Amino acid sequence: MARDGAVYVCQSCGATQTKWAGQCPACNAWNSLVEELQTRPPGALAPSRSARGRGLAFQGLDESTPAPPRISTGVDEFDRVCGGGVVPGSAILLGGDPGVGKSTLLLQVAASAARRGVRCAYISGEEAIEQVRGRAQRMGLADAPVRLATETSLRDILESLKREKFDLVVIDSIQTMWSDAHEAAPGSVTQVRAATGELVRLAKKHGVAVILVGHVTKEGTIAGPRVIEHMVDAVLSFEGERGYPFRILRGTKNRFGATDEIGVFEMGDAGLGEVTNPSALFLDTSGERAAGAAVFAGIEGSRPVLVEFQALVAPSAYGTPRRAVVGWDSGRLAMVLAVLESRCGLSLGNRDVYLNVAGGLRVSEPAADLAAAAALASSALDEALPQDCVVFGEISLSGDIRPVSRMESRMKEAAKLGFKRVLGPQDLEGGSMKIHGVTRLADAIARIGESRWE
Ligand code: TYD
Ligand code: MG
Repeated sequence: MARDGAVYVCQSCGATQTKWAGQCPACNAWNSLVEELQTRPPGALAPSRSARGRGLAFQGLDESTPAPPRISTGVDEFDRVCGGGVVPGSAILLGGDPGVGKSTLLLQVAASAARRGVRCAYISGEEAIEQVRGRAQRMGLADAPVRLATETSLRDILESLKREKFDLVVIDSIQTMWSDAHEAAPGSVTQVRAATGELVRLAKKHGVAVILVGHVTKEGTIAGPRVIEHMVDAVLSFEGERGYPFRILRGTKNRFGATDEIGVFEMGDAGLGEVTNPSALFLDTSGERAAGAAVFAGIEGSRPVLVEFQALVAPSAYGTPRRAVVGWDSGRLAMVLAVLESRCGLSLGNRDVYLNVAGGLRVSEPAADLAAAAALASSALDEALPQDCVVFGEISLSGDIRPVSRMESRMKEAAKLGFKRVLGPQDLEGGSMKIHGVTRLADAIARIGESRWE
């Protein structure tokens, strides 16, 4: 029986239900409904029936607005993803898997900004002061004038931020913050939403930029940052594969700038190093590229990045063949396999298929289709692509190869790194590069199989 005022909130999608169920009717997640008490936020009054609203002061689109000022943190890769620095009074959510390096990045950002005279606070609800300080010392940041505190009580944090004036405040993490105005447990949707709401309000009112850390978890045990994405001005995600040192900072929402920029970092002994020119970072230059490898000339944000796709097609030992993919979308892999099978006669249905994007980068461009297909075909046919060849092109379900965006920049960067050929869409013009243009995927596969690269 539901108590008075109790609702059941899905910890995965945030939908509210009046009755408990084993599966959330909204997002189909299992065991994600948790009972939470509905309370009105402190200070909020019951809506009065007689009160009338004020008239709005409408404005034209053409009236001039000065560009928002920016706080430059001095960590250029971070500033770039934020759209050229952090906007005062804005709220930024930094999401990522536990252990990916969110705390490390933000400590570095805070320290760097503080050294430039920005008043910075770092509030941790997860680690003890000694731990944060120890990390700062290891990273050579101990002298930066960052104000440290460990606290999880939202009331105390808000009070301190009102009293002491800061320009930039890091809250690590939003899931540990807890407001005594709500009965729900810390980390629940109600608490995470309430804490975010209060902190965003404070950010706007006092002109403080607030950066919230949000852990992303696959299970619904703590509320995912998804439920607060709409409340903040910018959402950044910090990604990286286990076992690789590279970390990518990506903007997925930004009210003050474009979201197509990425920042590239390398995790080392002294924290995260910035990688200003990542174009050759994800290339394996140690030896000859064997059968199953194809170099994709990609674009990440505004910068070209060359990255190696590695495929292995092997006889399957079991009835159901394995499909494993790292760094690329598994749905996209299934699509490319289906097109290879039905339009190119390359039968992979009873074989294990492994596809790996080297270096731990996650590629999401459709332009990578042809590179993935080339790597798969190269492995299946046991024919290596030329060492000096890059690949790009989108594959349609009919098996056609489509042109992609910014083909000149892709080729220019490849030429700069010593590549001499392109396997790509028809009608390319590539300056010094030799073009192997194809209109259909089948042509590309025939070329790889017959090793026609005159
Ligand atoms: P952390 O910032 O604590 O991750 P998050 O806040 O996202 O949970 O980073 C944890 C990992 O980073 C940990 O596995 C160790 C590694 N690390 C380094 O390799 N070098 C360093 O200088 C630091 C500070 C951390
Ligand atoms: Mg952390």
